[in-house]
This record gives sequence, C-alpha cells and structure tokens, in this order.
Amino acid sequence: MEYFTTTSKASRRAVDCVIVGAYERGKLGTGAQDIDDASKGEIRKRVKTGDISSAVGRCTILTNVPGIKADRVAVVGLGKSGKFSATEYKKAITAAAQAISQTKAKSVLNCLTLEPVADTDPYYLARHTAEAVGDVLYRFTQMKSGRKKKGSPLKSIGFAIAKRGDAAKTMLGAEHGDGIAAGVSLAKELGNLPANVCTPSYLARTAKKLAAGNGKLTTKVLSETEMKRLGMGSLLSVTAGSAEPAKLIVMHYKGAGSEKPVVLVGKGVTFDTGGISLKPGPNMDEMKFDMCGAASVIGTIAAVAKMKLPINLNVVVPAVENMPSSTATKPGDIVKSMSGQTIEVLNTDAEGRLILCDALTYSRRFKPAAIIDVATLTGACVVALGAHRTGIMSNNDALREEIFAAGEAAEDRGWPLPLGDEYTAQLKSNFADMANIGGPGGGAVTAGCFLGKFTDGMNWAHLDIAGTAWKSGAKKGASGRPVPMLSQVLLARCGVLP
Ligand code: BES
Ligand code: MN
Ligand code: ZN
Repeated sequence: MEYFTTTSKASRRAVDCVIVGAYERGKLGTGAQDIDDASKGEIRKRVKTGDISSAVGRCTILTNVPGIKADRVAVVGLGKSGKFSATEYKKAITAAAQAISQTKAKSVLNCLTLEPVADTDPYYLARHTAEAVGDVLYRFTQMKSGRKKKGSPLKSIGFAIAKRGDAAKTMLGAEHGDGIAAGVSLAKELGNLPANVCTPSYLARTAKKLAAGNGKLTTKVLSETEMKRLGMGSLLSVTAGSAEPAKLIVMHYKGAGSEKPVVLVGKGVTFDTGGISLKPGPNMDEMKFDMCGAASVIGTIAAVAKMKLPINLNVVVPAVENMPSSTATKPGDIVKSMSGQTIEVLNTDAEGRLILCDALTYSRRFKPAAIIDVATLTGACVVALGAHRTGIMSNNDALREEIFAAGEAAEDRGWPLPLGDEYTAQLKSNFADMANIGGPGGGAVTAGCFLGKFTDGMNWAHLDIAGTAWKSGAKKGASGRPVPMLSQVLLARCGVLP
C-alpha cells in the first residue's frame, strides 16, 4: 500500500474515493462539510432523507456528486459529536474500508483524520487506518480452486491533515500500521491453513523463508533428536502419537546492539485432537487454530522486521501435532521436562503447557529482558473473558501493566488474571512433581501457574488467546490477534513512538 498526506480540501483532490463523516443530529465532519458546500448541499440532502446513517459502523457510498474532484464519496457514521473515540474511529474506518473494497476504487483520501478523536493523535489515526484496511482486504484464497475472484484494487491511501506539522507523525503511523497489518495477515494465513498443510514442518519452512530475505533475521530449527538430547521429555510426550515430526523453531531478529532480547514463545499445536483424552467431535476442526500462538509470534517478528525496529527479539515456537495412537502418551504417564521437574500427564488434552514449559526452559539461554508466551491454552479463558479480551498473567506487576496498556493503545485488548500459590497448589500430584491439570476451578489460572513453575527468575508473562485468536460461526477464521498488542509492546520498548 502507498500512503500520502495532504492539506488540500476533500472536494479538491482527484481520488477514486474520499472518506468523510457525519455525526448524529445532522452535524457534518470537516470533510463532509466541505463536500456539502462544493456540491451545494448534496450531503445534507441525503442526511435529511435518511440515506446517510450517522451510526458508527455504517457507510454510504455516493457517486456523481457535483462540484468535487473525487469519483466517489464514502460517508461514514461517526455517532455522537464530541464523543468520537479511537475505538469508534477504528470501527468507522473499517466500515469505510469494507464498503470501498466492494468498489473499483484504487486511491482514497481519508478525511476522518481531521475529526477530533479523544485520547489519540495523528500517529495512531494513521496506524489504525492502515491496520483496519489490511484487516478488511485480507482474503484466504489459497485453498480455493478455479478462477480466483479479484480482490480490491486499492493501492493508495491519503490522509487529510490540518497542518503540515502532522505529516511526519501520520506517515510514521501509516508505516507502522502497514508493518503490523503484514504481521496480522501472516498470522491469519498460518492460522487458516488446514492442519494437513500447516504441519510443524510447514511452520518451520515458513520461518526459514521469512529469514531468507532479511539480513537481520535468522531461523534455526531443532529436530526431535536434538530436542531429545536437550531433555525435552515433556514436549516430546505430546508428539509421541503423531507421524508428523515435531520442530522447535528458533528465530532471532537483531535490530539493536548487545542489549538483552525480548523473547516471544508461541504455542504451535498444529492440530489438537486431545490425544488419548480425545476431544468430542463437534467443532473439532477449529483445533487447527491451536497453533495461533505460534502464528502470532511469527507474525510479530515479521512485523518488527518490516518496521525495522531497533530492538532485539527472539521467537521460540514448539511445533507439534497432538494425536491419539498406540504410541501416544496415556493419562497417568509421567514425563521429565527439560527443567528436570517431572509431570504426571493426567489429561493428554492439556498439551499446550507441556510443550511450552520446555520451550520456556530452553529460552533461558537468551537471558531475556522479558519473556512472553502466547497460547490458545484453555477453554476456561474463553469462559472467563469471551472472545473480546486476551487473558494476561505475569509474575511481574509492571510487565502485566505494560502489556495491558499496550493492548489498550493498539485496540487489541487484554485483561489481567491472577496467579498465586493457592492456585498452584491445585497442580499437586501423588506421583510426580506436579500434575498437568489443576482440577475444575480456575482453569486459565492453573494453566498459567503450571507455566510459572518453569519461569522462576525470569520477567515473564503469559497470554491466553483461546478466545481471541479466531472467530467461530459464519465468519470463521483466524483474527491475527495478538499481533497488534505484541507489536505495541515492542514499539513502546524501543522508544520509536512519537
Ligand atoms: N487447545 C485447547 C484449548 C482450547 C479449547 C482453546 C477450546 C480454544 C477453544 C487446549 O489444549 C485444551 O484442550 N485445554 C483443555 C485443558 C483441560 C484439559 C485442563 C481445556 O481447556 O479444556
Ligand atoms: Mn488440548
Ligand atoms: Zn491445545
């Protein structure tokens, strides 16, 4: 996508579509007012007839508006005047992008950036725009046969700015939004691919390909033999029933000097049948999304590389398939983790923590400034927070708050959940150092506490994305979350935000 800024008026720019807004009670946004003046009342006329809605998330496309240079005008609802928030801005610009993507428009001028939006600035408005457009334009077409429907031809987005001084911040926001959108698209694509294509080996190949074109990025892939040598008995117990070889994918992005890296660890269960503790049949297809943690950390490092951030970032992905078979791990089996701690596998469906614990132990060698694991870990987190917010757990209050704040700023939200000894006690085993399940109550938290047994002394946080990583139902598909939240953490850490 190309981006530009302009101080010219909405009516004066010869683009394929200009985006303007209308508030409730007939109040027009700056761009809409200008179009209305130039066209002798075309906007007001349609507000009166009810053909233009002021509801946030609605968009009306007008053609043949006289007196202006653009071919089309997209009028989006902005809700109550004076109450326009960043969240509503994102909804509004998403609606505009959706409507425009159904047309043949190649170039647009977004005038919503002229509206007063609470608690935000030109940087975030441009960034949210680029992210929203990327989100709308994404299509999963890889697996459809026959002639593919052409996507939207949109290739240029302009931002109306009030003063020249806003140009640099706007362009930086667009550039960052573009990088994050690319990371989100990659995460969606990996998530949406079926498990017979997106295997652990496929994830490893994708990570290698990403690094091939980038001097700052390297990828190393560890085989089962190497993992065995490292003592990763917990991780390997999950892959025991599968014919697909497990991989440990290790990526390095070196954008800064010798400073300690942030490490992101992503759960990469390319399909979760539950193993011998087999899952019920209905909706089991959605367990192809059980590698969305992996997809999000790979997407984030791709975004960081695209934005060329001055930061050191490592990504570690334990990638396995969880299958039942005569070689599969059985309930009651006891395995030894790389940390030396033994685990009684009471339920083979609690497999995410079994691969993450060894990946976390492995990551100690990087002496992380912070380590964040990302996982579609528990159904209990979906019960607690639904599909709206990611569960955030941490052994460090400052890190948890940092991630929470990043989620707010990035419009990719999370919410804190506790950790603590009283929950950890639920993991007691009669036969091993711990069990891999914590009983009926607080399932998201006991899963976090399990991981906490492997992160002593590290500045660690755990993100449970079981509810946020994909959508079910008619719009079934990966969301690309929490790439924006993670990217925000990294952008803030390396000090490049305006
Ligand atoms: N991948 C699932 C978690 C999950 C379930 C995510 C449904 C999204 C939707 C995970 O491996 C799992 O099966 N967890 C179990 C843990 C339980 C056995 C303690 C769960 O949540 O039921
Ligand atoms: Mn499971
Ligand atoms: Zn799982």
